[in-house]
Amino acid sequence: MEKAVNDFVVIENAALNATNFRLKLQSKTPLPGIRAGQFVNVEVKNSNEIFLRRPFSVFEVDYKANTLSLLVKILGRGSKKLTEVEAGEDISLVYPLGNGFTMPQHGDKVLLVGGGSGIAPMLFLAKDCGLPPENVHILIGARSKEDHIDTEGYKEYGTIGFTTEDGSLGVKGFVTHHPWFAEGLAGFDKVYTCGPDLMMKAIGKAAVEKGVFCEVSLENLMACGFGVCLCCIEPTKDKGNACVCTEGPVFNINSLKW
Ligand code: FES
Repeated sequence: MEKAVNDFVVIENAALNATNFRLKLQSKTPLPGIRAGQFVNVEVKNSNEIFLRRPFSVFEVDYKANTLSLLVKILGRGSKKLTEVEAGEDISLVYPLGNGFTMPQHGDKVLLVGGGSGIAPMLFLAKDCGLPPENVHILIGARSKEDHIDTEGYKEYGTIGFTTEDGSLGVKGFVTHHPWFAEGLAGFDKVYTCGPDLMMKAIGKAAVEKGVFCEVSLENLMACGFGVCLCCIEPTKDKGNACVCTEGPVFNINSLKW
């Protein structure tokens, strides 16, 4: 798919909780088709010290309004700076980058598991996968209730489950402590996940043990997004040292040397 570098107009920069912001951006040209799992590289403006663009999974796309949204979690100076941009400002994006998730087939029952900012592509996939809500389960893990964003609007796309490490919302513990895992992924045809490596490794292990199809979206360090800087390399079984930005970020669990 052809990539573009364009200025977008900031439509909204809304705080969803203390550390997560939704950045809604309007394209000046018609948006291409964007799949769940693909990402954009965002320029951090007005900074003398931040030179590299920052990668963000696409969170929402509205082709009618010609907008896309990103979920920006404050993790460092770059993301903090992005939470300070204001409506009306221009912001430069390289897009769309990487490969999205393999879409489920009609009749599949899927489990989507997100942790941290990894919930952005999972919620996008829930909306985009075309399955009836009874076939979609969305599991979101966080440290505490305060770290969860409002997902009320996603109830129409599937059943939502929560875990928190402190037990303040949903099941206490990690996502793998949730009954959907404890019951051995019973009934799921496909599992998709994005979030911290440790979480995805545990999910991948469970899926491999049960023989369930599983795709993970890696969050390796990225700079160029074009396969040039090689900072995002991931060793794989079938593609050697793969650039996550061009060969991924979505990989089948069986392809990874985890
Ligand atoms: S981010 Fe530069 S090669 Fe992948």
